[in-house]
Amino acid sequence: MHNIGRLAVWDPAGSQSELNHVERAALRWENGRITWCGREEDLPVAGVDETRIDAGESLVVPGLVDCHTHLAFGGWRADEFAMRIAGADYLEIARAGGGIASTMRATRSASEDELVERSLGFLAEMSRNGTTTVECKSGYGLSLEDELKVLRVYRRLQQLQDVRIVATFLGAHVVPPEFSGRRSDYIRLLTREMIPAIAEEGLAEYCDVFVEETAFTPGEAREIFEAALSFGLVPKLHADQLSDTGGAALAAEVGAASADHLEYASEDGIGAMAGAGVVAVCLPLASLYLGKTPMKAREFIRRGVRVAVATDFNPGSAPSHHLPLAMTLACTMSRMTPAEALKGATIVGAAAIRRERQTGSLLPGMAANFLLVDAPDVEHWLYHFRGNAVQGVFIGGKQVH
Ligand code: NIG
Ligand code: FE
Repeated sequence: MHNIGRLAVWDPAGSQSELNHVERAALRWENGRITWCGREEDLPVAGVDETRIDAGESLVVPGLVDCHTHLAFGGWRADEFAMRIAGADYLEIARAGGGIASTMRATRSASEDELVERSLGFLAEMSRNGTTTVECKSGYGLSLEDELKVLRVYRRLQQLQDVRIVATFLGAHVVPPEFSGRRSDYIRLLTREMIPAIAEEGLAEYCDVFVEETAFTPGEAREIFEAALSFGLVPKLHADQLSDTGGAALAAEVGAASADHLEYASEDGIGAMAGAGVVAVCLPLASLYLGKTPMKAREFIRRGVRVAVATDFNPGSAPSHHLPLAMTLACTMSRMTPAEALKGATIVGAAAIRRERQTGSLLPGMAANFLLVDAPDVEHWLYHFRGNAVQGVFIGGKQVH
């Protein structure tokens, strides 16, 4: 099969800002993988049975990768949205028993089937907006049984629909209320029971820790990552979101795949991430909803750190899974160029989950995950924000929308 249109392409070795549009281009794929990409006039002659799709005036870009979501959760927290508008602080609400603990209660009382049903609805909407790969975190169960339940939801989602799922264990989201005053007992549960059980069932690839004053200290995170690494789980961090706790430097120290949020990361932390090749993940929807300083993406890019863009979809700080909206906001709030934002939500997002050899570019060998976008170029797409400019979505060569 091949596809004729205008392609957004790049050399994977190039800088994040480099992007070219190829006019009158062609893309060929077979058995779910891209086999050829370039100018139509150079396309080798097709076999007789090849199906041809004419993308017309559409812009063809790689399928989007949302490399940071908390997809499966019970309930919503619209009440807190209203409270914050009236002046309450995110952490104040959390200390009063709301926030993550409130979603924990709703997630614990939801069944595995209910969470699957709800997540299927989210994934269908996300893929219509162009998301073809999603990283999904646990972290609202916070007991052995409930964390396993949420991770099993992710495994089932992988089998029930087309969007590719990558699972992350975030048992270290906060210390659950039943362990208050017994933090070290919870850390023991994480390291001695939860991580081994998850590894044994092969339920997650990554282990994330929320490093923050109200969550876990860098020392506790080190202990959790040590256990995770010994069971083959790769570290990821919620780092320096609300204050500088040295999360960026810790990400470099433990060889994390990514450090996410980073609104308050220090100069030294950014330097350490550059040195260790840790991907920074910009989550502008969270900054927008919490009314906090956006992440300084320009500074990271200037220092040689690749910056991914993701939604952080969750019921508290980022109740939207609209990745093109997050990309537009990464431009306006974090001053990424449209090209950097597109690469942030494709090839660099893929790098944040170590999938850049499988998806995120239109190169031979990559999965045939791509979108037809109703826009003349990337600048115009992200500038003229609207409900949905995505007209066609292909995952593994199969048209899903
Ligand atoms: O990424 N920072 C921690 N976790 C989520 C928010 C979780 C919540 O408020 O429910 C985040 O912003
Ligand atoms: Fe998050």
